[in-house]
Amino acid sequence: MSFSKTQRILLGLGAISGVATFYHSNNNKNKAHASWTTSYEPATNAKWDENWDRRLPKYPKHTTKNLSEKQENKINEERESVKPKASRHLIMIRHGQYNLSGTSDEHRVLTKIGRVQAAYTGKRLKELGFPYTEMIKSTMTRAQETGHIISESLPNVPVKNCDLLREGAPIPPEPPLGRYRPELYQFFQDGSRIEAGFRKYFYRAQPSQENDTYTLLVCHANVIRYFVCRALQFPAEAWLRLSLNHASITWITITPSGRCILRVLGDSGHMSPDLITTT
Ligand SMILES: *[C@@H]1O[C@H](CO)[C@@H](O)[C@H](O)[C@H]1NC(C)=O
Ligand SMILES: *[C@@H]1O[C@H](CO)[C@@H](O)[C@H](O)[C@H]1NC(C)=O
Ligand SMILES: *[C@@H]1O[C@H](CO)[C@@H](O)[C@H](O)[C@H]1NC(C)=O
Repeated sequence: MSFSKTQRILLGLGAISGVATFYHSNNNKNKAHASWTTSYEPATNAKWDENWDRRLPKYPKHTTKNLSEKQENKINEERESVKPKASRHLIMIRHGQYNLSGTSDEHRVLTKIGRVQAAYTGKRLKELGFPYTEMIKSTMTRAQETGHIISESLPNVPVKNCDLLREGAPIPPEPPLGRYRPELYQFFQDGSRIEAGFRKYFYRAQPSQENDTYTLLVCHANVIRYFVCRALQFPAEAWLRLSLNHASITWITITPSGRCILRVLGDSGHMSPDLITTT
């Protein structure tokens, strides 16, 4: 914050401008800093929360010094036994384009383009060749249909349904978007349900998990965008700053140490441009 000479005179700020600047910079802790700003402490809400899923291993501590080799080995074994070793991959697919004129969920079926999009994404997932663990579909019609078409490419992947993944209003977006104005009660209802979905699927591997898992979540743009913000520990209110194409692929890896890595966001590069749609 700086004032021109005229503004200083008008505001009578001459002597107190130093105080004003100090006050201002100290109330700026939650601002995003530019990359060249190196002389600051990260804001407390910018620190990574290691225990975001409440599954941070409780490692046994060395309580005594001068342990025998046998005692050392025992402690190391215990540490290994509580430590996750595998990664969990969450591959989220937005449903294909659907009939926006449909008046209820069962009438909001995939359009012809939507079905082609889903088929291309199924083919892409097959080509990627991951050992998919399972596919979980939102119970809304457009997600069910999209998952069904993807299953044609991945016939051996077990399928489940989940109401927590249904579309909704996760949290009032910041900045608000003119035409997106759900009622507050909708955020109140859907927000807790979508957060429950996040807690159900996003967590680091259990120590007993031997191999990486690849979980497909076939669901919706608001749900996926909220999950991305939550997993990366970005402010969840930022979800509406992201945009996802129909039947696009978003991929987050949760490493054994609990770090979340966004590998792919809204990828639809496997489709020809005339098939790329958002609404
Ligand atoms: C640990 O071992 C060192 C060297 O062997 C010895 O000097 C020290 O007194 C020991 N400490 C304890 C707590 O036994
Ligand atoms: C879309 O839904 C409307 C209203 O239910 C219906 O009249 C129309 O035929 C549907 N269009 C398609 C392509 O399914
Ligand atoms: C883990 O992967 C290995 C190698 O592919 C396989 O032999 C083993 O059965 C897998 N374990 C589980 C629990 O799936």
